Amino acid sequence: MKTTISQVGQHVGQEVTIGAWLGNKRSSGKIAFLQLRDGSGFIQGVVVKSEVGDEIFQKAKGLTQESSVYVTGIVKEDERSPFGFELEVQDLSVISESVDYPITPKEHGTEFLMDHRHLWLRSNRQHAVMKIRNEIIRATYEFFNTNGFVKVDPPILTGSAPEGTSELFHTKYFDEDAYLSQSGQLYMEAAAMALGKVFSFGPTFRAEKSKTRRHLIEFWMIEPEMAFYEFDDNLVVQEEYVSFIIQSVLTNCKLELTRLGRDTSKLEAIQAPFPRVHYDDAIKFLHEKGFSDIAWGDDLGAPHETAIAENYEKPVFITHYPTAIKPFYMQPDPTREDVVLCADLIAPEGYGEIIGGSERINDLQLLKKRLDEHQLDPEAYKWYTELRQYGSVPHSGFGLGLERTVAWISGVEHVRESIPFPRLLNRLYP
Ligand code: 4AD
Ligand code: MG
Repeated sequence: MKTTISQVGQHVGQEVTIGAWLGNKRSSGKIAFLQLRDGSGFIQGVVVKSEVGDEIFQKAKGLTQESSVYVTGIVKEDERSPFGFELEVQDLSVISESVDYPITPKEHGTEFLMDHRHLWLRSNRQHAVMKIRNEIIRATYEFFNTNGFVKVDPPILTGSAPEGTSELFHTKYFDEDAYLSQSGQLYMEAAAMALGKVFSFGPTFRAEKSKTRRHLIEFWMIEPEMAFYEFDDNLVVQEEYVSFIIQSVLTNCKLELTRLGRDTSKLEAIQAPFPRVHYDDAIKFLHEKGFSDIAWGDDLGAPHETAIAENYEKPVFITHYPTAIKPFYMQPDPTREDVVLCADLIAPEGYGEIIGGSERINDLQLLKKRLDEHQLDPEAYKWYTELRQYGSVPHSGFGLGLERTVAWISGVEHVRESIPFPRLLNRLYP
């Protein structure tokens, strides 16, 4: 019977046929061990010469890395295998040979691996990261669906830019100018006025000239937006959502976390609520720590975020940033104009900001004033200001960067490994 590696547990003692690739092999004159993978899992195939005969044994011994095969054998339980099973091979046929596979078990440089990303994805480590990414996406849908949110898809081609105009990808839209979306937020605000609680999940684009372990040019963002939610309500959704995805990965990706060597004790501690640090206190703390490169009013850099996050086992919210360094749409603190009702969520272990969110301005006149201060074209934002003209309500939302979250939970150093085909500064291939 034809099956997949993930399903062999249902066929212990039976004969099965699996389509697979050869990851690696070891052999002597009498026995060969084939490391097989089929995408769904990994299993060792054991080929004993005295059982299968010389022809099949020689075929097994001659298999090259990444050749594709159909392997038939008896499923055995095996405690030594991390996956619990082994295949006692009886027959084997090559589907297609692989000659001189470029990614060998030896170490390769990053650029070489990135040039071969289409093949690198097959490696154990990349497989594990992609499975964790998938689990985070699955858990995201579960969380928002069970909490009464409606999934809404904002456009990718847009005429207006929420997060500042310097990092926009420009394109022609017939005779008009268009931009690739940096964030679906403004559209999600409109959707929240129609559906109450909404979330989006889609690609976003930023022409950032940053070459850091946290920056991609194309990344995926989850953007919830909630009508009638004020600043604090927004933080509660965020901490519950992040805790939920962590616990889901811990439950459903045990093998992957083990294969990645992830220290899961650090993840187990992550349960809502998360600590909150006011921007004023963050600056004070940094000064006490001897950071002389930052003053009140400056944006926090990666080293600052890390220094603050190091004090906590959980992610930490930094709240109430200066109005002057944040986008036009953020609601000012009612007790003081110079800071806004926003928060960034900083992940532990140096992974930096994974969420940016805020309460939005709901007063029409204030929003118009801000557009003007930010020199944004009122015509382009007319539809957005109209949301404040017809039954404006307090509302809040946030954006979680998927790749930074995947990198953090997987424990991989760089976001380039947390997306299948990363778009980076100077990299559009493969
Ligand atoms: O903080 P940002 O810019 O917030 C927004 O775009 C809001 N409009 C979201 C909202 O309120 N609906 O981006 C949100 C998150 C960041 O915290 C980060 O995780 C991720 O998106 N992000 C990036 N991830 C990878 N590469 C980049 N260049 C990123 N820029 C932002
Ligand atoms: Mg941000």
